[in-house]
Amino acid sequence: MQILTEPRAMQQLCQSLRCQGADLGFVPTMGALHAGHLALCHRAREENPQFVASIFVNPTQFGASEDLSRYPRSLETDLELLREAGCDAVFTPDARAMYGDTDLLHGTWVDVAPFNEMWEGVTRPGHLRGVATVVAKLFNLISPSRAYFGEKDFQQLHVVQALTRDLNFPIEIVGVETVREPDGLALSSRNAYLNEQQRRAASAIYRAMRAGVEAARGGETDVAALGRTMNAVLEAEPLIQPQYVAVVDAENLTALQQLDGRAARILISAHLGKTRLIDNMAL
Ligand code: PAJ
Repeated sequence: MQILTEPRAMQQLCQSLRCQGADLGFVPTMGALHAGHLALCHRAREENPQFVASIFVNPTQFGASEDLSRYPRSLETDLELLREAGCDAVFTPDARAMYGDTDLLHGTWVDVAPFNEMWEGVTRPGHLRGVATVVAKLFNLISPSRAYFGEKDFQQLHVVQALTRDLNFPIEIVGVETVREPDGLALSSRNAYLNEQQRRAASAIYRAMRAGVEAARGGETDVAALGRTMNAVLEAEPLIQPQYVAVVDAENLTALQQLDGRAARILISAHLGKTRLIDNMAL
C-alpha cells in the first residue's frame, strides 16, 4: 500500500491506476477509523479492482468552537487497518498541502443549496461548505469511478450526491448502511469522547428512532405525534440534550407534517455533554 502526502503525486498515481480504464474506488475519511469506515472500504474492495482512501482532518469543515484540535488521530493504526482492508494507496495530506499557506491562496468554495440552510447546515454554519469543498478537491485529485459515503451522515451524503451532479463529476456515489454497536449506537469517531455514563445514555438515540419506526408501523402518520414519541425516549435520559428530532422527505430533506407514502427519514442530533452526535433511520 502506497502512502502519499503530496496532491500532485496522488493525482499522478491515480491517473496511472486508471490508465487502462480500470475502475477505481475511493473512500474519503478523517481517520480514527472504525468498523463503519471499514464497511465502506470492504464495499470499495468488492466493487473495484483498485481502491484508494484519504485520511485528512479537514479544517474548513470545523467551526471555530468545534473539536478540530482534539479530533481523535490514530494514523499508524489507521494505516494498518487500511492495509488489512486491501487498500492500494492512502492520501494523507496536511492542511497546507490542501489549502496553501494562507486563506488568500484558497478562494474557491462549493456551496450546495438548499442543503446548507437546513439541519446540519443551520446548526453547524460553514460545515457543509467545508465538506463539499474538500470532497470536490479530492474528487479532482483522485478521479475515482466510485466514491463511498456512509448513510450515517445522511445530509452529507445528499450534499455529495448534489455536488457530483451539479459539477458533472463522472463519479458514482455509493451510500453504505450505518454500522452500529450492539446497543444500536452508530459507530462514530466522536463516541471516543463519551464517558461511561454518557456512552450508556447514547443508545437512547437509537431507541428513540426505533420507537418512531414502530409507531409509524402501527399506523401513526402524524409527524408531530411521532416527534412526541421519540422525544419521550430521549427525555428519559437526562444526559441527552436533543438539538433536532425531525422527520423529513428522504429525497430533499424538507420537514414533513404527515407520512404520505413517500420515503421518509428520521434525523436526530443531540448533545451528551460537549459531544454532539447525529444519527438517522429510514421510516
Ligand atoms: P468521517 O467522519 O471520517 O467519515 C468518513 C466516512 O465514513 C463518511 O462517509 C461517513 O458517513 C462514514 N461513516 C462514519 N461512521 C459510519 C458508520 N457508523 N457506518 C457507516 N459509515 C460511517 O465524513 C467525513 O469523515 C468527512 O466529512 C469527509 C467526507 C471525509 C470530508 O472531510
